Amino acid sequence: MTSMVLKRVLQKGLLQPCFEWRVAGHSARIFPVCYRCHESAEGTSYFDLYHEWVEKFRKANIPEEYESAGFITAHLLGYKTFSVIPSRDLRRSVTDRELDAFRRMGECRLARMPIQYVIGDWDFGGVNLKMAPPVFIPRPETEVLVDHVKNEISKRVKAQSPIKMLEIGCGTGAITLSLLNAMQSVSLQGVAIDASEHAVGLTKKNAHHLNLSYSQNLQILHHKIGVDDDDVLMDLGPFDVVISNPPYIPTADMDNLPEEIARYEDHGALHGGRNGLDVVKAILSTCTKLLSKDGVLWMEVDSSHPRLINALFDDWKIDSHRDMYGVARFCRFLRSKDVDAN
Ligand SMILES: C[S@@+](CC[C@H](N)C(=O)[O-])C[C@H]1O[C@@H](n2cnc3c(N)ncnc32)[C@H](O)[C@@H]1O
Repeated sequence: MTSMVLKRVLQKGLLQPCFEWRVAGHSARIFPVCYRCHESAEGTSYFDLYHEWVEKFRKANIPEEYESAGFITAHLLGYKTFSVIPSRDLRRSVTDRELDAFRRMGECRLARMPIQYVIGDWDFGGVNLKMAPPVFIPRPETEVLVDHVKNEISKRVKAQSPIKMLEIGCGTGAITLSLLNAMQSVSLQGVAIDASEHAVGLTKKNAHHLNLSYSQNLQILHHKIGVDDDDVLMDLGPFDVVISNPPYIPTADMDNLPEEIARYEDHGALHGGRNGLDVVKAILSTCTKLLSKDGVLWMEVDSSHPRLINALFDDWKIDSHRDMYGVARFCRFLRSKDVDAN
């Protein structure tokens, strides 16, 4: 029954004593609830539980209290978001086991665990990925980087086959796996490396879950750029496209991280040294050996970096690009100033 129809029914007085309108979610969805039925005869409903936890989160100053309770509710009911849950599911009463599961997840969120770790998976660039602390949670800006790289690969398809792609610092596998998934019609060989064993394990798990691990087109390696011997990577290259979202937060900014990030995410995935460029420099130095002659490197950086990078690395041809918020966030590097593949 749509809310318009239900409103008319209520105005005519057909259902009146038993219904009230409640507001749900940050988008203030008006939701009809039969309070008499679900509160007395049927015990606690999912809707009650949702409201109870919004209130708990609000009192404890947990950011995004509606979204937090909404994602937990949706997860336990088998939906992606709160707004798509049918009202019959929200009205049904919870079992003891469900109550317990909600409480456990709610308590994790009360301890400031990011909601992505609480529910254990998240969508990125068209794929669903397992999330687990302390592996870096992919951010929406990085989807813009993936779009740039998709365009770059599409333009190079005619000239080169197969395209060899390397990702440095793969985390959950978000960039490499979303690209391989979206570009299955292209002959693309991916190598994804990370300095963290946790990240390598999670990328492998996600690749398997997405049925991308069977392919000969993907290798996932434990490797620390700037420390481990690059011969292993040189044997797999040269690469046509290198992508990285490296740790790039300057030291001074590490003290101002939200608690969710500071407590749960690997600081090795965040901290880029004094001015945030330690790993960026190591990547550029290694890429002089790993990139093919007209190869391209795409990197996500701090908004303070494009200017610094342009000044520091004058032997590269560098363009910067903005994210969806208009922030200069991505740099595209070509090895030689004389070469532009496009
Ligand atoms: C900001 S996270 C990005 C993860 C993923 N690419 C994403 O966008 O969601 C940076 C990743 O780089 C890895 N990393 C840090 N230093 C590295 C290095 N020297 N060599 C390889 N990986 C490194 C971290 O372990 C972490 O997984």
